Amino acid sequence: MPAHLSRSQPVPAGTDLTADLAASCGQCQRCELAASRQQVVVGRGNPAARLLLIGEAPGAEEDASGQPFVGRAGRLLEQLLAEAGLDSKRDLYIANVIKCRPPGNRKPSRAEIAACLPWLEQQIARQRPALIGLLGATALEALLGLKGGITKLRGQWLEPLAGSFLSTPETHNVAQVPQQQDQPRTTHQIGDLPNHRPNQPANNPEAINRQTIAIQPSNLQPIALMPLLHPSYLLRNPSGLEGSPKWRTLQDLRLLRLRLDELAAGQG
Ligand code: URA
Repeated sequence: MPAHLSRSQPVPAGTDLTADLAASCGQCQRCELAASRQQVVVGRGNPAARLLLIGEAPGAEEDASGQPFVGRAGRLLEQLLAEAGLDSKRDLYIANVIKCRPPGNRKPSRAEIAACLPWLEQQIARQRPALIGLLGATALEALLGLKGGITKLRGQWLEPLAGSFLSTPETHNVAQVPQQQDQPRTTHQIGDLPNHRPNQPANNPEAINRQTIAIQPSNLQPIALMPLLHPSYLLRNPSGLEGSPKWRTLQDLRLLRLRLDELAAGQG
């Protein structure tokens, strides 16, 4: 494993992600996407924010600009964030599971996700967000090993049990944390959902070794994760009527805003 990916000491919150990490990430050749990319898309926003939003992968406009979520989906996301009172330059940082554009905007492969996850883990370790919004099924699967279930889980607060977050491939411990008053309090038995982790390419010496790059609980603030619908899905379902996917996403973003405010007020 490259030295810059091993981490034994907590990194101070607010460390500038754009400097050394972006420089290393920009040189990445861990998978075949390096050959076709124009730019590595590391992230944008406030690297010291308490909220991290994680999407899937850059598209054409992101690849050209080097910034995540600047295409159509990104503009919709910006609009919803603003409506929810979230300023993307101040209140959050946005990154993707995959840092390079998959050709033709295809879904990233499991091998590509496995190769790229250490960068995201580094970003999480440095930013140390208190809240993570998982934008879409790829982020949900890559971070929590949950395949499918985004529609059921969106808007729910999920909390990794101590030590389980991004730890071993076999571990899928997720507990629900108290809901806002108007949310149903269902308990998800994660065993009910198909367990899945991205395959680790057997012949890749840099294959993820989660035992060595796991984020240690001591470095975590109590993280709560919320799956949200992906903005591209919202583009395909443009209704904003009450009960629509877009309307639900706005409610979910408002819950994130509320939780940020509670954290700022020391109630988190
Ligand atoms: N743009 C991104 O940066 N990520 C996505 O997941 C979609 C569009």
